[in-house]
Amino acid sequence: MQKTILVTGANGQLGKSLQQIAPDFSGQFRFLFTDVDTLDITDLAAVRRMAQAENVDFLINAAAYTAVDKAESDIEFAYLLNEKAVANLATAAKETGAFLIHVSTDYVFDGQASVPYRTNDPTNPTSVYGKSKLAGETAIVQSGCRGAIVRTAWLYSPYGNNFVKTMLRLADTKEFINVVSDQTGCPTLALDLARFLMAVIAHDGATEGVKRYHFTNKGRITWFDFASEIIRQAGKTCPVHPIPTSSYPTPATRPAFSVLDLSESEAFFDIPDWKESLTKVLPEIIYNYEHNIF
Ligand SMILES: NC(=O)c1ccc[n+]([C@@H]2O[C@H](COP(=O)([O-])OP(=O)(O)OC[C@H]3O[C@@H](n4cnc5c(N)ncnc54)[C@H](OP(=O)(O)O)[C@@H]3O)[C@@H](O)[C@H]2O)c1
Repeated sequence: MQKTILVTGANGQLGKSLQQIAPDFSGQFRFLFTDVDTLDITDLAAVRRMAQAENVDFLINAAAYTAVDKAESDIEFAYLLNEKAVANLATAAKETGAFLIHVSTDYVFDGQASVPYRTNDPTNPTSVYGKSKLAGETAIVQSGCRGAIVRTAWLYSPYGNNFVKTMLRLADTKEFINVVSDQTGCPTLALDLARFLMAVIAHDGATEGVKRYHFTNKGRITWFDFASEIIRQAGKTCPVHPIPTSSYPTPATRPAFSVLDLSESEAFFDIPDWKESLTKVLPEIIYNYEHNIF
């Protein structure tokens, strides 16, 4: 019998990527894709109602407050979405027995490490966004629901606005591009993350407790490396220059080092290398960029 997966925030980068792969799983799962217009996750009664009425087996939360710099001055709203609304989902999951898959961030770490962060390493977020996302993780653990928390980083896709689309735009409008070269991490293609979340359902969906995973593409690069490769693969000629973070001040502090240890995820999922995933998806991103498709 088909199981039901409720996806929240389905119009975002991850949500649209889940919509893209859903047909591959249609024999096994019925997907309910919702966004704020059909299910506002800050509304506990609405979340409860839908989880119960639709007999939800799995709940994937792709909704979040993701404007990292804006969050520094929009604190209440960031916490409303990243903590309170997540607590609502966890409450509904606990009450119905549904398995909750929630996505979190590398920004729960302070970036002072020099070896990849493991899932149980101490957290120490330095931005409002990171703190609010960590508060959401805590709410899930405290709710007593079953589920998985998947931390990811540097998400991009053919959808919405992201670093790849920004680089394409800047390459077409600037004489050169300055990109920070002292922040190290790894990009994540949202489509790869979406497939990993489906693998988590297969791997852990019937288990108790809350698991933690880290998921990015494989590799270790700087934003400058990423920008250079995007411009190279896109066949653009705009020069890319490395700059230090101190020359590009932003309201929110970013971790200098946010490489995530992937060993637990790799044990049951074949994670693509970052460059391989970029090559696979760049033509679609360029098409959407050139046709103003978000
Ligand atoms: N983007 C990154 O680089 C990055 C890095 C690390 C971790 N993550 C995490 O990865 C996850 C997915 O990120 P993403 O980039 O796919 O996010 P996104 O593109 O910003 O999508 C979030 C979606 O949630 C929706 N939403 C907002 N308020 C809502 C509400 N009250 N109820 C239901 N839906 C609501 C948004 O709608 P509106 O657009 O209408 O507001 C949007 O469609 C998030 O948990 C994020 O924290 C992202």
